[in-house]
Amino acid sequence: MKIGILSRNKDLYSTRRLVEAAQQQGHHAWVIDTLGVVIEMGTSVDMPIRALTRSALPRLRPLPPLNGVIPRIGSSITPQGLAVVRQFEMQGVVTTATAVAIAASRDKLHSLQRMTQAGLPVPKTVVIAQAEGLFAAIQAVGGLPVVLKSAQGTQGEEVILARTFTAAAQGLVRLQQLGRLVLVQEFVAEALGRDLRLIVVGRACVAAMERCAPQGEFRANLHRGGTAVAITPTPQVAQLALAAARAHELSVAGVDLLQSVRGPLLLEVNSSPGLEGIERVTGVDVAGEILRFLATQYHRRINSLPHPGG
Ligand SMILES: Nc1ncnc2c1ncn2[C@@H]1O[C@H](COP(=O)(O)OP(=O)(O)O)[C@@H](O)[C@H]1O
Ligand SMILES: [Mg+2]
Repeated sequence: MKIGILSRNKDLYSTRRLVEAAQQQGHHAWVIDTLGVVIEMGTSVDMPIRALTRSALPRLRPLPPLNGVIPRIGSSITPQGLAVVRQFEMQGVVTTATAVAIAASRDKLHSLQRMTQAGLPVPKTVVIAQAEGLFAAIQAVGGLPVVLKSAQGTQGEEVILARTFTAAAQGLVRLQQLGRLVLVQEFVAEALGRDLRLIVVGRACVAAMERCAPQGEFRANLHRGGTAVAITPTPQVAQLALAAARAHELSVAGVDLLQSVRGPLLLEVNSSPGLEGIERVTGVDVAGEILRFLATQYHRRINSLPHPGG
């Protein structure tokens, strides 16, 4: 196959590993800078998607004729990323994540709506558009303490634990000043700063770890100094992760859960899960699994296409 890895930086661990896995499996792989991709509409070109050259005066050059893409879209470039993935989809290129699926998982509110609609367990969460709704929202999720989080944050940056009403009001102002829609969520104290990260590829959970927040911190993100150990998820947890990925129409996903007294609760679903932590901790070749999945999808696609002339 001819595979494009959509990534801003070819030196990132995940990008490098995907290129490596593609080559090991006999594919040609290119790292394509998502922001350098130019989509043309209404012009008279037969290749509506090209890329800028990296030169003082960038020019348009054709992209290699890809038949598969692996989008690794960072949250800061979501709009351009979605447009590029959508364009590849329209051109019949197989992708590990569709634009619709990436958009659904990127927004925590949209994501919780989809999981709730699918009957999956999530923490009690209320979204408020007006500061006047804060008191009612805290009551609705069971009272203080609460977690406030923006619908768009990543790496724990926009997740605040509020133990008092004043702290909640201040947190709300801070997130609203960033122009964010704010979720008020029950604080799952019994999770004790731990969460579970499962990697779903196709119809299987291929790797799992438990992450633990550093002392004095409730957020278990590895970017916040969390540590991790490999785990074997229970069948219940694995089923939930698969169902969560399916609720977002994602075939490759990083699914996060919290262990609560009510059982596991789904926290969020990531369409570009980082590979470094999970591969190092579990020793699983996650990049290889993703490439094998993409190749399977590609072969399914070409085998289901009607043969010319019949
Ligand atoms: N409601 C909650 N109760 C307890 N801990 C939480 C809750 N929500 C988030 N956390 C902790 O904070 C971390 C970051 O929250 P998350 O919603 O995943 O945001 P982000 O997308 O920024 O990672 C989680 O991995 C978890 O450890
Ligand atoms: Mg998270």
